[in-house]
Amino acid sequence: MDLTDKTVLITGAGRGIGAGIASCFAGAGAKVAVTDLDDALAQDTASALDTQAMGLVADASSQSSMADCIERVNNELGTLDVLVNNAGVGGLDLDYAEVAQAIAVTGMSDEAWDEQLLYNLRTAFSSSNAAIPRMNDGGSIVNIASIAALGPSPDLPAYGAAKAGVVHLTKTLASQLAPRRIRVNCICPGLLWTRAWEMLAARIQASQPEMANMTPRQIFEGVVAQSTPLGGEQTPEDIGNLAVFYASDKARMITGQVVSVDGGITLQR
Ligand SMILES: NC(=O)c1ccc[n+]([C@@H]2O[C@H](COP(=O)([O-])OP(=O)(O)OC[C@H]3O[C@@H](n4cnc5c(N)ncnc54)[C@H](O)[C@@H]3O)[C@@H](O)[C@H]2O)c1
Repeated sequence: MDLTDKTVLITGAGRGIGAGIASCFAGAGAKVAVTDLDDALAQDTASALDTQAMGLVADASSQSSMADCIERVNNELGTLDVLVNNAGVGGLDLDYAEVAQAIAVTGMSDEAWDEQLLYNLRTAFSSSNAAIPRMNDGGSIVNIASIAALGPSPDLPAYGAAKAGVVHLTKTLASQLAPRRIRVNCICPGLLWTRAWEMLAARIQASQPEMANMTPRQIFEGVVAQSTPLGGEQTPEDIGNLAVFYASDKARMITGQVVSVDGGITLQR
């Protein structure tokens, strides 16, 4: 897939899945803007890419922060063609005590609920709203949701609800933006060993005494082995490859779609 001369912005791309998506777009020849709450992470990821790239600090949950950032990208790399709404999970200061506690909906505080919706749903809303008036017709928006969006999510109720909102937002935007031929699609990743999962595994360990002697990585591998029919975890590039496809002309008639990249985890639900 050839995205030469296309300008792509990926939110939360300083590390993890977003950094993998950035490298896939660079591999397809696109010019890449890497944004993150953490400036140093954004700069490092951008400078490692084998393409014209820039790193910017921006809060994906703020329309004004993203609007400023997109103006800079449009001036320096060319008008935006593709927005990837990847930023999510716990914000800059990951507090997985709140994120990963096995809490029932009924036990959650209003604040914990709102925080998760801010980090994991408003990010896609605010970034899209900032980008839509500033991007080329015929472009593409790719939203990163989660398999947590697709069924009950008893351990992460607010996260699951936020990601279900991302799936819904995908379909609404796809319908609203069709007259401009902007396609909007969604990816639901399964299990990936990123900083987010590392912290989640540490949290699971703290609440399960029988796992006291396991490393976070071993806990993650146990979950993968138990739940993945194809065997094995997914990689950021597995997600990035689909994002590049969605953004390419090969997907010119695909909009409003939601695809899981999860090794078959959701087959078992
Ligand atoms: N890791 C998994 O197994 C998994 C599974 C399903 C979905 N996801 C989703 O993939 C996306 C990336 O997750 P990850 O595992 O790479 O997480 P991560 O925590 O490793 O990386 C997330 C990055 O996003 C940045 N970020 C967070 N909030 C931001 C904001 N408001 N504005 C700008 N940047 C922000 C962080 O600073 C960090 O660099 C998230 O949307 C997450 O919900 C991850």
